[in-house]
Amino acid sequence: MSELDIRNLHAGIDGREILKGVNLVIKQGEVHALMGPNGTGKSTLAYTLMGHPNYQVTEGEVWFKGQNILELEPDERAHLGLFLAFQYPVAIPGVSVANFLRAAINANRKSNNPEYKGIPVPEFRKLLKEEMDLLRMDHAFAGRYLNDGFSGGEKKRAEVLQMATLKPEIAVMDETDSGLDIDALRIVSDGVNALRGPELGVLVITHYQRILNYIKPDQVHIMLGGRIVESGGADLALHLEEHGYDWLREREDHTITA
Ligand SMILES: Nc1ncnc2c1ncn2[C@@H]1O[C@H](COP(=O)(O)OP(=O)(O)O)[C@@H](O)[C@H]1O
Ligand SMILES: [Mg+2]
Repeated sequence: MSELDIRNLHAGIDGREILKGVNLVIKQGEVHALMGPNGTGKSTLAYTLMGHPNYQVTEGEVWFKGQNILELEPDERAHLGLFLAFQYPVAIPGVSVANFLRAAINANRKSNNPEYKGIPVPEFRKLLKEEMDLLRMDHAFAGRYLNDGFSGGEKKRAEVLQMATLKPEIAVMDETDSGLDIDALRIVSDGVNALRGPELGVLVITHYQRILNYIKPDQVHIMLGGRIVESGGADLALHLEEHGYDWLREREDHTITA
């Protein structure tokens, strides 16, 4: 059973430290939610885990399958079984959803087996069709250019479709709920729930409790000022919904000044 083990992670951008010692373990089969106010470092954590070049790690380690992945390139991390669903997916005009997914699957499989000749077209079509049906997507979607002119809901569904076809072991979903109306939120959540199982660990990053009504987390973590300051069960998200973050801010201020 794989696990992603984040140990005392410090990272920042342009010489400014944003993550100030994050500790978190996500095992396959578990769904964790990471909540926190805007600007607290949630996306920084997601990008740092995937190896975005703008983010510099200054301290700490992230272990996955016996390696400190901070030493790996982003594609090597993806090939190991890590996946990041972006808060703001980028458009790739000229590359269809189907071609993009096929290239991504082949890259993953080739990295694990240099002899691999590429997924046969019938197998790919079948896989794509199954996963699109699961996400209740129109099959015509596969022929459109990736994220080009997609609505907010379509972009998020395309991210979940990538997750469904690439079958990562650990997926980090950065604000997959932002910009979704209630119907789209439900479809995206149903998709994630359908992918849930012993093979998949998920970190759902969210600003709002709402998505957690649909995707029930095993654990909830709250980030404030670049650190996880509280962890608990699903009821912690409900407590936040009711009481906001102030009780934690006050407690942290008190801890720092004490
Ligand atoms: N590209 C960037 N350049 C400079 N500062 C950034 C950049 N991206 C994020 N930040 C800053 O880093 C901090 C954490 O941002 P972020 O990780 O996006 O927070 P969250 O996802 O929790 O809202 C914020 O203060 C934000 O202004
Ligand atoms: Mg963010």
